[in-house]
Amino acid sequence: MEYTSVLTEVRGRVGIVKLNRPQAMNAFNMTLVAEVFDALEAFDKDENIGAMIVTGSEKAFAAGADIKEMAEASPFEMISQGRVEKWDRIRGIKKIVVAAVSGWALGGGCEFALSCDMIVASESAKFGQPEITIGVIPGAGGTQRLARLIGKNLTMEMVINNRTLTAAEALQFGIANRVVPVEGYLDAAVAFAEEIASRAPLATRMAKDAVNAAFETTLTEGLKTEKRNFYMLFSTEDQKEGMKAFIEKRKPNWKGK
Ligand code: HXC
Repeated sequence: MEYTSVLTEVRGRVGIVKLNRPQAMNAFNMTLVAEVFDALEAFDKDENIGAMIVTGSEKAFAAGADIKEMAEASPFEMISQGRVEKWDRIRGIKKIVVAAVSGWALGGGCEFALSCDMIVASESAKFGQPEITIGVIPGAGGTQRLARLIGKNLTMEMVINNRTLTAAEALQFGIANRVVPVEGYLDAAVAFAEEIASRAPLATRMAKDAVNAAFETTLTEGLKTEKRNFYMLFSTEDQKEGMKAFIEKRKPNWKGK
C-alpha cells in the first residue's frame, strides 16, 4: 500500500510508523487511521520486526480525530463508516507497540497512545481529552482506558474539565513509562523498543496477551489466561533454549519458535 499520511522506517528490529499530516497536527482522518493500522499490521507479520513504534512530530503526536472531517456528519454516517470501530484494529496487533509521544496528544491522539502497550514521552508531551470543548466525549476508549489506568477522579477531570497532563504528570500517574528530553526522544524510544525486540518473541506475545487480560476479564479468568500462556510456552524451542542458556551461563539465541 502506498501511504500518503504515514512514513515508515525500520531501525534494526524496530518498525517505526510516523504520523505525517503536519498541516493538521496529525489529526486522524480516515486515511490516516487506515494507513497507520495497515503499516502496523504489516510490521506485525514481518519476522524481522520485533517491536513497533508509533510517533508523530516533535510538536504534535496527534491532535485527535479530524474535526473538519466529521463536523457535519450524522450519527448514521459515523456508524456506517465505523468511525470508532476502525480504531479497534490496534487490539489485534500481537507484537509490542510503543507510542513515542512529543507535544500534543489530544482526544483521539491521547486515546491512540493509551491503546499502545507502552509510552515513551518527551518532556514536551501533553495528554488531554478536550472533546467536551467541542460538544462530544472521547470515543476511541479514552473514558475506559484512562479510568482503568489513573482512576475515576482524575479521568473525570480530564474528560469533564479538560485537564491536560504534562509529561511529568503522565509519568507520575502511570500513563508514561519514560520521560526523555525532546531532543532525541525518538532515539530513546527506539532504544527502549530494541530492548523489547531482543526478548523471546513468543514469550513477549504471551506476556502482552496475559497483561491485557487483566483489563478485560475477572481475576479468575485472567489467572487462567496467564497459566495457559505460561504452560504453552513450554512447547517452544525458545523456552528450552532460554533455560539451557541460563544453566550454561551464556546468552540465549531466540528463534521465535
Ligand atoms: C482537524 C486540526 C485538528 C483536529 C488541529 N487541526 N487539530 N484539524 N482536526 N483535531 C488543524 C487546525 O485547524 C489548523 O489548521 C492546524 O491544524 C494547526 O492547528 P492550530 O490550532 O493553528 O495550532 P495551535 O494553535 O498550535 O494549537 C494546537 C492544538 C489545537 C492545541 C493541538 O489545534 C487544538 O486544540 N486542536 C484540536 C484538539 C481537539 O479538540 N481534539 C479532539 C478532537 S475529537 P489550519 O487550516 O487552520 O491551519 C476526537 C474524538 C476521537 O479526537 C474519537 C475517535 C474517533
